[in-house]
Amino acid sequence: MGTVHVMDHPLILHKLSLMRDSQTGVKEFREATREVAMLMCYEATRDLPLKTIQIETPLARAKARVISGKKLAFIPILRAGLGMIDGMLELIPTAKVGHLGLYRDPDTMKPVEYYCKLPVDVAERDVIVIDPMVATGGSATAAVQTLKDRGVKHIKLMCLLATLVGLETVQKAHPDVDIFVAAIDEGLNDHGYIVPGLGDAGDRIFGTK
Ligand code: PRP
Ligand code: URA
Repeated sequence: MGTVHVMDHPLILHKLSLMRDSQTGVKEFREATREVAMLMCYEATRDLPLKTIQIETPLARAKARVISGKKLAFIPILRAGLGMIDGMLELIPTAKVGHLGLYRDPDTMKPVEYYCKLPVDVAERDVIVIDPMVATGGSATAAVQTLKDRGVKHIKLMCLLATLVGLETVQKAHPDVDIFVAAIDEGLNDHGYIVPGLGDAGDRIFGTK
C-alpha cells in the first residue's frame, strides 16, 4: 500500500488556515496556494536521486552532489490544480507539465474528463498528480488511471485537503501511489464538499463565485 504523508509543517498549516478562512480574498488565497504548493513540493521530492560531480570551489576541488537529471512531470487536474503549479515550478523549473481537465458532475459526483494534454514522453517520467481537494477521491483516482493507461509507472499524488474516504478510494484503486496531503478533514457534506474544508478550491483561486 502506498504511504500517506501528512505534511503538518507549521508553515503549511498556517497558510492553510488562511485559505480555510472565508474572509480571505482571491489574491491572498492564490498566493497561499502557490506557497503551500512550493513547501509541499520540497517534501514530496525528498527522494530525488543525486549524483556526485567534481567542482572547483574558490578554495579547492570538491565533490558535490546534484540532482541526477531525473525526468519529472507535474500533472495538475484542472482547474484548481493550476493554482499549485507555479509554486512547484519555482522549485523545479525543468519539469514538464501536462494538463488533465476533469469536472465533477454535480448530480453523480463522478469525474468527467474534458481535456487531456500530456508530455509526449510522459511514460518515461516520474509524475506528480496535483489535485488540491480529494473529496470522494473520484477525480484523483480517474486521473491516476488515465496516466497509467498512457504507460506511466511512477506516480505520486499531491493534495491540500483530503477526507479519509477519499484517500481510501484512491488507495484501493491505486495501492502503488504515495499521497502527500497537508490535512485530513472530517468528511463530506451532502453536496460532496469537504468539511470543514476551504470551499470550492477552483472558485476561490479564480474568483468565479
Ligand atoms: C474539484 C477539485 C477536485 C475535485 C475533487 O474539482 O479541484 O479535482 O473537485 O472532488 P472528488 O474527490 O470528489 O472527485 P471541480 O470538479 O470542482 O472542478 P474545478 O477544479 O474546475 O472547480
Ligand atoms: N472540490 C472542491 O473544490 N472543494 C471541495 O470541498 C470538494 C471538492
